[in-house]
This record gives sequence, structure tokens and C-alpha cells, in this order.
Amino acid sequence: MSKRVLITGAAGFVGFHLAQALAARGDTVLGLDNFNDYYDPSLKRARMLHLAQLGIEVAEGDICNPEALKKAAKSLSPTHVVHLAAQAGVRYSIDNPQAYVQSNLVGFVNILELCRHLDGVKLVYASSSSVYGANTKTPFSESDVCDQQVSLYGATKKSNEVLAASYHHLYGLPVTGLRFFTVYGPWGRPDMAYFGFTKAIEEGESIKVFNNGKLRRDFTYIDDIIDGVIASVDLGADHEIFNLGNNKPVELGHFIEVIEKTVGKKAIKEQLPMQQGDVLQTYADISHSRERLGFEPKISLEEGIPRFVEWYRAYNEVPNMAGSR
Ligand SMILES: NC(=O)c1ccc[n+]([C@@H]2O[C@H](COP(=O)([O-])OP(=O)(O)OC[C@H]3O[C@@H](n4cnc5c(N)ncnc54)[C@H](O)[C@@H]3O)[C@@H](O)[C@H]2O)c1
Repeated sequence: MSKRVLITGAAGFVGFHLAQALAARGDTVLGLDNFNDYYDPSLKRARMLHLAQLGIEVAEGDICNPEALKKAAKSLSPTHVVHLAAQAGVRYSIDNPQAYVQSNLVGFVNILELCRHLDGVKLVYASSSSVYGANTKTPFSESDVCDQQVSLYGATKKSNEVLAASYHHLYGLPVTGLRFFTVYGPWGRPDMAYFGFTKAIEEGESIKVFNNGKLRRDFTYIDDIIDGVIASVDLGADHEIFNLGNNKPVELGHFIEVIEKTVGKKAIKEQLPMQQGDVLQTYADISHSRERLGFEPKISLEEGIPRFVEWYRAYNEVPNMAGSR
């Protein structure tokens, strides 16, 4: 049966792709986004225009304003809420804690309150691999205790999981948390390393490489993430948390080599020490997601990075005409 899905953060990277994928299979989608300027809002507007061309609306509104949420819910009567709106980014949280407190804590409770009062709605929300923080046992499993977040961003995402658990317990709200691991791909986020590296290498500028490139990340291609989010919507679990990651961590040095090869130029590297808030490795154990969601990442870095670079070049020539996914 087709679903009516309210997607918060729909002008963002993940929300934009999810909105298209759900609409393409016949679900009714309404997006909500405040188009903030954490990164260039013109990219968010371009995503919105692209969605509008497909008949998908992204309403302008802030999750910190309960009235904006109620208005969106009234116009859609959602069967599902996929909550992706958040203040993202680990490094930005060191200097801008209030932005995280507002969107990720106040905004998150507003989402829980909205869902509690909507009859029969199921909530799926974005958590993050950052909840694993200082954990050293790898791969990271959903059953591991994770109480040592090393960034405020990670702390707010962990708080989301705790708050969601209490709403499930108190009000029976069906709720699923998704721990995304470093998502990349076309229409991606300019604040993320792969985007900045590509831009700098194209333009012959230097890139900052932290900890001599000895950081490992479980880079996950956007289409694989979207498959996992849709499977979670369809499962409609009572209360679960899933890792959505590629399950193949890659060293930053190799990641840079793949971008260099794709762009056809060598990077000028500025070596810097480990950054505050960063972790040495992220690595998803996906056995639980595999079993419950049929989650199976398909796109390697060698396939995914060229797809990103192709989009990046097209977008920068003709901003609103670049292809999606
Ligand atoms: N991309 C990743 O690698 C990654 C990894 C782990 C977790 N996540 C989480 O996944 C979700 C989606 O991430 P993304 O990469 O698409 O980020 P994004 O920044 O591109 O998208 C988030 C969107 O939410 C909107 N937003 C932020 N605060 C809002 C508010 N108060 N009201 C309304 N809209 C607001 C922003 O304008 C943005 O368009 C986020 O919750 C993020 O924390 C992403």
C-alpha cells in the first residue's frame, strides 16, 4: 500500500534522494526544510527545484517551530515521518554548540511530540556513527554500549536515541533510528571531505589531511543508504536501531588517491594533526541490518567517487540542470 511520508530536511543531501526514491515508487511525499546557511543554501534551493520538477513539494519551515510541523502534518496526514533535519557536522559543533542544541534536541523533541499526537504514524530518524565516539571495538555493533561520544554532534545524536526509546516506552510510538556512516554521492554536502577535496584538487588548491591520512572511514554510497532507509520505512519496526554503513572502512589516504585518479590531478596536501572531536576509525557491523532490512551495500568507492565527480562537474557548469542520483 502506498504511504504518505513527511520528510524533514528534504532539501538536504539524504532527504533529497529519499524524496525522489519514495515518489518514484508511488508514495506521496511532503518535504520540510528551513534552508539554513550551514552550507551554501543555493544547493538546497537547487535540490528543491529539482524535486519541484518531479512534482514533490518542499515546504519552508523550522522543526523548532511546532506550528510549522503541525501545518505540514495537517496538509499530508502522514503514515510515516522520516526525520532527517539536523545540524550535521562534527567539527562545526565544537564552535557552534547552540545550533545543535536547537535543531537536534529541541527540534527532535518537537518531532517526537508531533508523532505522539498523530494517529498510527511511524517514525524513522537519522542517528549517526558518531554515537560510537571513543569505542575501540570494531566493527561497531548496535548492541555495543556507546556512552563516550567525543563530539557534541555525537552527543546530540545519542540523546535522540535515548529520547526516542522513552517515547516508545511511554507512548508506544513505533520508532526506528538509523546510524548512517559517512554518506557520499551526487548532490552531496559541500562541508564534507570528499566534496572539499574534489573542489580543491580540480582548482589546484591544497587540501588539509588530518593525522597523516591515517583515519579510516566506512564511506557509504547514497543509493545504498536510501535502500536502507526505505527498507526501514517498509519494516515499520516497533523500536529498533540499525547501522547503515558500507562495512568496508577505507583509509583517508586511499580515498584521496581515488579522487585524484578520477579528477586526473594530484592533490597538494597540507598535513595536520588529529582534530578534536574526530575518531580514528568508523566501521559498521551490518549483520543486524542485513538480517532485518535485507541491507546489502553495493557501490564501491571506485564506482561511487566517479559518479560524484561527474555530478560535481555538471552541477558547477549548469547548476539546475545536473542529473540526480
Ligand atoms: N551525510 C552523512 O554522512 C551523515 C552521517 C551520519 C548522520 N547523518 C544525518 O543524516 C541526516 C541527513 O544528513 P544530510 O547529509 O542530508 O545533511 P544536510 O545538512 O544536507 O541535510 C539536513 C537538512 O536539514 C535542514 N535543517 C537543519 N536544521 C533544520 C531545522 N531546524 N528545521 C528544518 N530543517 C532543518 C537543513 O537545511 C538541511 O537541508 C542528518 O540528521 C545528519 O545528522 C548524515
